[in-house]
Amino acid sequence: MSTRPAASTAELEALERDHLMPTYARLPVAFVRGEGSWLRDAEGTAYLDFLTGISVSQIGHSHPALVEAVQEQAARLIHVPNLFYSEPGIRLAQRLTERSLGGRAFFCNSGAEANECAIKLARRHRPRGEIVVLEHAFHGRTLGALSATPAPDKQRPFEPLVPGFRVVPRDDPGALSAAVGEGTAAVFVEPIQGESGIHPISHEVLLAAREACDRTGAVLVFDEIQCGMGRTGTLWAYEGPRVRPDVMTAAKGLGGGLPIGACLTTPQLADVFSPGDHGSTFAGGPLAAAAASAVLEVVDDEAFLGEVAAKGERLAAGLRALGLSAVRGRGLMLAFAVADAPALVRRALLEHHLVLNATGPDSVRLLPPLTVTAEEIDEALERLEAAVEGSR
Ligand SMILES: Cc1ncc(COP(=O)(O)O)c(C=O)c1O
Repeated sequence: MSTRPAASTAELEALERDHLMPTYARLPVAFVRGEGSWLRDAEGTAYLDFLTGISVSQIGHSHPALVEAVQEQAARLIHVPNLFYSEPGIRLAQRLTERSLGGRAFFCNSGAEANECAIKLARRHRPRGEIVVLEHAFHGRTLGALSATPAPDKQRPFEPLVPGFRVVPRDDPGALSAAVGEGTAAVFVEPIQGESGIHPISHEVLLAAREACDRTGAVLVFDEIQCGMGRTGTLWAYEGPRVRPDVMTAAKGLGGGLPIGACLTTPQLADVFSPGDHGSTFAGGPLAAAAASAVLEVVDDEAFLGEVAAKGERLAAGLRALGLSAVRGRGLMLAFAVADAPALVRRALLEHHLVLNATGPDSVRLLPPLTVTAEEIDEALERLEAAVEGSR
C-alpha cells in the first residue's frame, strides 16, 4: 500500500489542469475507496452511489468475489497476446454466447470498440452497406461509433465522419421500415437509450426493426452496453420485449470495473470475420475475462435478476411518491424529469452525499448497483427528497 497521503480535491484539480486534456467536466469530489453501494472520499465521508460509474460497478464496489477473482488471476497471469490460447477469455466466450445469441464472441476493451466490431462485421457481411441508426442514440466516441451517434454537437467538430450512416426517428416504425432496404448492412438500436435520458424503445419500433432486417438480410444490432448485464431485471434487455437481435454489444458492467467489451453473434453470423479482419492487443485478456466471469457468476442467476426487477419497482414507486415527473425506465435503469437537473445532481452530491447523474438540462438518471439493498433505496430516496426540497 502507498504511504503517500491522499491529495486534496483542490490539489487534484490543479494537477489535472496542468496534465490532462480537458475532456471531462468533473464535480469537485475525489473518491478513494468503495464498498458495496458506498464510495468514500479522502476525509472518510461516505457517498451513496446511485450511478455506479454509469452502469459499470454492477455488483457494487469491491465485491469480495470480484476482488478474489482479480487478485487470483493477477497473481497467476495478467496478459497474454492473442497469438496464443488463454482459458479465461475462451471460458467467458462460452458462457456469454450460451447465455445470449448462441454464436461467437469477439472481445475488446470498451463499448465504443464493441460497436466498432459490430459495424465492421455488418460491413463485412454486406460490403458497402448502409447503417441505420435511431435519433438520440449514443454508440460511443471513436470515429465509427461517433458516426452512429447522431448528435450534431458531438459529431460536427470531427467531420468528415465515416460515410454510410442514415438516421431515422426514434419512435416511428414506418419510417424505420422504409429506411431499410437491400443496401442496408445493419440497423443499430439501444433497446433502452441511456445517454439521451433513459428512453425505452417501443415494442413497435423493435418489431419493425426485426421485420425489416428479416426482409432484407440486414443485421439487427442491439447495443446493450448500458442496458445489459442484468440492469433491467433480465440478463439482457432484449429478453424483456422478446425481440432478438442478430448481433449484440456489451461492455460497461460486463467487467464490473475492469475494461472489457464484447460483440456477440448468432450462429448464422459467427463466421463473418476471417483471421486478420479484426483484432486488439488487450482483447479478451485473462485479467479482464476473469473479472467478467466473476461478475456473471453473481448476476446470471434467476433469483438475483428477480430481485433487480423488484428493487427497480421499489425505486420507481419511491420516485413517483416524491412527486417527481416523467419517471421512466426498467429495472434499476431509471430517470425522471426536473428543472435544472445539473444543479440538483450537484446539490445531491455535495450536500446529501448521493451520487446521481444529469443526462441533460432537465433529466436525472439513476443506475444503482444491482446489489443495492431495499434500505439503501429508501435512504437514497430520503436524500433525494432533501436535495429536491433544497431547490424549492
Ligand atoms: C449505449 C452505449 N453504447 C456505447 C457506449 C460507449 O462505451 P465506452 O464509453 O465504453 O466506449 C456507451 C457509453 O456510455 C453507451 O451508453
